[in-house]
Amino acid sequence: MNPDHGETPPLGVADALSLEAIEHWLREEDAARLEALWHAADETRREYVGDEVHLRGLCEISNVCVRGCTYCGIRAPNRGVQRYRMKADDVVACARQAREFGYGTIVLQGGEDYGMATEWVAHVVRRIKAETALAVTLSLGERPAADLAAWREAGADRYLLRFETSDEALYRHIHPDLPGRVSDRLADLRTLQRLGYEAGTGIMVGVPGQTYASVAADVDLFRGLDMDMIGIGPYLPHPATPLGAEFAARVASDDWPPDQVPNTELTTCKVVALTRLVRPDANLPATTALALVDKEAGRAHGLRRGANVVMPNLTPPEYREKYEIYPEKAAVHETAEAINAGIQALLDDLGRTIGKGAGGRRRTPGSGA
Ligand code: 5AD
Repeated sequence: MNPDHGETPPLGVADALSLEAIEHWLREEDAARLEALWHAADETRREYVGDEVHLRGLCEISNVCVRGCTYCGIRAPNRGVQRYRMKADDVVACARQAREFGYGTIVLQGGEDYGMATEWVAHVVRRIKAETALAVTLSLGERPAADLAAWREAGADRYLLRFETSDEALYRHIHPDLPGRVSDRLADLRTLQRLGYEAGTGIMVGVPGQTYASVAADVDLFRGLDMDMIGIGPYLPHPATPLGAEFAARVASDDWPPDQVPNTELTTCKVVALTRLVRPDANLPATTALALVDKEAGRAHGLRRGANVVMPNLTPPEYREKYEIYPEKAAVHETAEAINAGIQALLDDLGRTIGKGAGGRRRTPGSGA
């Protein structure tokens, strides 16, 4: 895992960091040398997006899903999940709570659930926009362009759709029921941009079969895509999924494909830091999955190694415990108030301030776009 792999390549922003250098840094294990990466990412973050941390309240509006993504706990074939769809009033109440906490954005996330009719989502977006000044982000899967257009028309500001991995074989392995390829998802991202959304994408780190070269290619792809937001989290095995079973079997027999990337906090931080360097003005969250994989330090490390966004979970507890895309264990019992207080304390500790306003992307000329 830690071969002597030659001289440490220089760090730089945008096009200054080569694909080879990215892969080199992903493999770097020396704590002293990694300090240079953390420092470069933190300085770049400060220079391009400042010390403000934007808070986005997360509301998990439906755990119904038509897809069979092999990593995800709410995949359609998982019979162990009690399915729910939130009521419009409850979603709007969540948005009000986000406003009361001083957040600038509400993120409505759910499975790819066609029982959530196009018009219903549009109605909820219009209500939130009428009752609050919040930015509205949607994360509802690969819906048809007509749906995306209707929701944009209703006032939605942003849309999140991770491509998860740019490795075609791995993409098919984890999305067995999607007819599409990585390029189709990238086309969806262009559709979102054309419709006037701020668009976000991202990946999981440490999926079984994911190599250092493939994660380096993902970071290189981030550089080429003009994304406003990029979410990066460790893969967290869910026991009731095919990929979770594969992960457990590989752990038991210590059988990993050559060049397997670990699903650790450290590796995820390297990906966040490198992504900050190649996309200096993007909004990058310290993700919930990163906070879960290292409860002590995950979120703080993310914020000190390139991230500038946190997404506190505001989903009412009775729904939240049923929205297990990955195992959350004790975390589901934390109240929104407790989560909020924890984040405020963390930001004080880090000397960072809470972002004012909606916290959209402020493009920097010459940032590699
Ligand atoms: N581990 C980590 N991240 C996951 N996601 C879904 N399932 C898992 C898992 N088991 C991520 C995917 C998806 C986002 C909403 O959550 O990257 O795009």
